Amino acid sequence: MGVGTTMKDRVLSGMQPSGMLHVGNWMGALENWVKMQDVFESYFMVADYHSLTTGYHDTRELPAKVLDMVVDWLAAGLDPDRSVIFRQSMVPEHAELHLLLSMITPLGWLERVPSYKEKLRELAQRDIHTYGFLGYPVLQSADIVLYRADKVPVGQDQVPHVELTREIVRRFNGLYGNVLVEPEAVLTESRVLPGVDGRKMSKSYGNTLNLGESQDSVTQKIRVMVTDPARIRRSDPGNPDVCPVFSLHKAFSDTETVQEIDRSCRQASIGCVDCKGLLSSAINLKLRPIRERRVTWESRPDKVEELLREGAKSARAVARQTLDEVKDAMHLATLQ
Ligand code: TRP
Ligand code: SF4
Repeated sequence: MGVGTTMKDRVLSGMQPSGMLHVGNWMGALENWVKMQDVFESYFMVADYHSLTTGYHDTRELPAKVLDMVVDWLAAGLDPDRSVIFRQSMVPEHAELHLLLSMITPLGWLERVPSYKEKLRELAQRDIHTYGFLGYPVLQSADIVLYRADKVPVGQDQVPHVELTREIVRRFNGLYGNVLVEPEAVLTESRVLPGVDGRKMSKSYGNTLNLGESQDSVTQKIRVMVTDPARIRRSDPGNPDVCPVFSLHKAFSDTETVQEIDRSCRQASIGCVDCKGLLSSAINLKLRPIRERRVTWESRPDKVEELLREGAKSARAVARQTLDEVKDAMHLATLQ
């Protein structure tokens, strides 16, 4: 897909390159992106500049993380023929627009963004008292407005960033004329999945089921999962409401199965071993098409690189045009 000539609404979203994704990432953002690419003109970006704001100390793993994540995107069904998939640092317009927007963004707006203070506290040991980290949402605004995106699918935590983008757009348009498009956040319904230890599924806990997990590995990880701690013997009735295996059933199994397990767990007519067997099958069934698509990409990093180069070309064509209009409106010099 090249420069948009359609009347479809345009979508842009991004993810920081965190390496291999887990099924929670998939059921949150990624599944939604895959659906959106059929309805909207879509741009999906690897936000590698953003990852520098908190991870500038050591960037050696960056290329591998980008590659692993993009392979997961493709395996999940993002399709380079239907959406523009690109890496932020291959489109220099992001950096240039970030500079221009930074000129008109009051410090107070940035210090007010909830994620700013939260992250400073959370990552206290990392020293992110930097100019770049404060500007994180300005960079995100640049990402969004470069493509004149109408819609930005994000989780709840990112909504203030889209709100800030709207404020910056209004300020820009007020100062220099109507050039930029105000985007709208489209909230991704977030379902927090438990990890295999019962805590929230998260890479930092090491309790994930990865999107690229093999069938055997899924089965093995589920087999040793924690269950209702009060259900000690097979004959004890269980309480699915406190069991992480059951929470995963709700995400992966069909409604009838979920109801059936709910009932038979409480009556002790199903044992945890069988219940887990059903869960592994349900997960493996869902992951099957993803595994099949993965085969095409996993062994071909050169193909992935090429696809990112193509994506960057399409992205740049759009981004350059917006940037030139922005510079024109600000009476700066453009290349054309
Ligand atoms: N900040 C987003 C996150 O951490 C990633 C991101 C970067 C993004 N640029 C974006 C999301 C533009 C939406 C639009 O999840
Ligand atoms: Fe959990 Fe299933 Fe065992 Fe009930 S039967 S406690 S839902 S694993």
